[in-house]
Amino acid sequence: MSSSGQTIKINSPVDGSLVGEIQAMNKKEIDEMIGGAVQAQKLWANYSVEDRAAIIKKAADLIRENIDEILPIKIMEIGKTKKAAESSILRSADIISYTADQIEVVTHLDVLYSKDFPRAGESKTDLVSREPWGVVLTISPFNYPINLAVTKIAPALLTGNSVIVKGPTQGSISTAMLVEVFNKAGVPTGVINFVSGRGSEIGDYLIIHKDINMIDFTGSSDVGRSIATKAGYKPMLLEMGGKDAALVIPDADLDLAATEIVDGAFSYAGQRCTAIKRILVDKKIHDQLLEKIIAKTKEKYNLVGDPSKEETQMGPVISEKQAEYIQELIFDAVEAGAKIVLGGARKSNYFDATIIDGVNTEMRIAWEEQFGPVLPIISCDSIEQMIEIHNKSQYGLGGSIFTTDIEKAKEIAKRLEIGVININKKSERYPDNFPFLGVKDSGLGVQGIKWSIEAMMRIKSIVENK
Ligand code: NAP
Ligand code: G3H
Repeated sequence: MSSSGQTIKINSPVDGSLVGEIQAMNKKEIDEMIGGAVQAQKLWANYSVEDRAAIIKKAADLIRENIDEILPIKIMEIGKTKKAAESSILRSADIISYTADQIEVVTHLDVLYSKDFPRAGESKTDLVSREPWGVVLTISPFNYPINLAVTKIAPALLTGNSVIVKGPTQGSISTAMLVEVFNKAGVPTGVINFVSGRGSEIGDYLIIHKDINMIDFTGSSDVGRSIATKAGYKPMLLEMGGKDAALVIPDADLDLAATEIVDGAFSYAGQRCTAIKRILVDKKIHDQLLEKIIAKTKEKYNLVGDPSKEETQMGPVISEKQAEYIQELIFDAVEAGAKIVLGGARKSNYFDATIIDGVNTEMRIAWEEQFGPVLPIISCDSIEQMIEIHNKSQYGLGGSIFTTDIEKAKEIAKRLEIGVININKKSERYPDNFPFLGVKDSGLGVQGIKWSIEAMMRIKSIVENK
């Protein structure tokens, strides 16, 4: 137990059972931890990149070897279906291994010459190298407590930083297991540290701490905004909320569009930043698309229940509080004239996959991030109108365009205020060697393995004068 004497109980969103308890660390403990990380980083930065990479790779192997231990905890802690939880853990191991292979991104040296700039003469040569920031604070959300932690931890460690890992409270046991894996793999004491406690209580203290040199955050836009406001001059990466749209053009392959949209909207009960959170469909094909979406949803997301059971197609949302919020958005839309065409039933924090038709831009669900298994459909008169509604959102994370005319899709893509657009596929952050980013309230900076590694280093410019 922490010296604060306080613990936080982690109950499962699946059935309310106790998954475990974590410590609520106090400021003194946090200071000691960060102090240790400052010292340990100096030693870690002196390891060769190759040695750091070998240790990191070992962590990937240990994750694969220990998946049977991690998986049941993760399922109970965040309510993800077994298949999805398993694939996300294996993907995490792949991210770590791939990151460890990117040694050249770390050691890369740019050599610049003054002769290449007008009137600068020939006297200067610049060796541009990269150095670790020092102590990196990583903060990750409940929906990918392992996967989104490794997208930050692995690049931070490879580049010679030490890391303070703040997992989501709901997801912290999975995060603690992950940190343990890195320790077992041989990351020296003090280089990777699990900090436990509620973000609302210790978040500000961590963010403004003088010895935190860089912040890598994924979570809601509200918390991201608060971090950006309070952190001062600290470098940071922010990946935040989204309201990803599927734009469906009349010439689209509607079977393909329906299949992708349904998976996009309902996998992990809609609790993905990249979930399809609104459909913008041309009214000429609205009826056909709707029929196909309903049929696909009935086929693939009909069995709602305990996510640890093989047959379950969709689990709960993370909390009763979140379920209340989703319910509020549904009521608001229905009161304003929208129609529930599938689902709508809720038991506690379990929702049926719900499709709402006849949504318009006056309704909250057209704009707010529902983060749950509810799919609003907005009919549009034209591509112009789709783009206009799309770009009015405060968010700009990902999205999808469905059309058989790829050139037209690329033209539309250029006009969307968005980080990543998928043509004829659900919106997603995959594969992990591609850049992933949001604009507007969805993000600051770029993730994706190469970009995440680069973000973990500052540039040092050594200019030699002849
Ligand atoms: P959240 O409430 O913003 O929490 C995210 C993390 O921030 C958690 O670890 C949380 O800790 C911590 N936190 C809370 N308050 C804090 C504070 N004042 N200072 C520092 N840290 C603080 O988000 P969530 O509900 O876990 O996740 C869902 C949201 O994340 C959605 O909006 C989703 O779109 C977004 N998301 C975005 C991406 C992306 O890549 N763009 C990926 C996944 C999720 P506690 O749990 O202890 O509160
Ligand atoms: O929740 C946000 C994740 O970054 C989404 O990742 O598209 O691979 O499910 P994903």
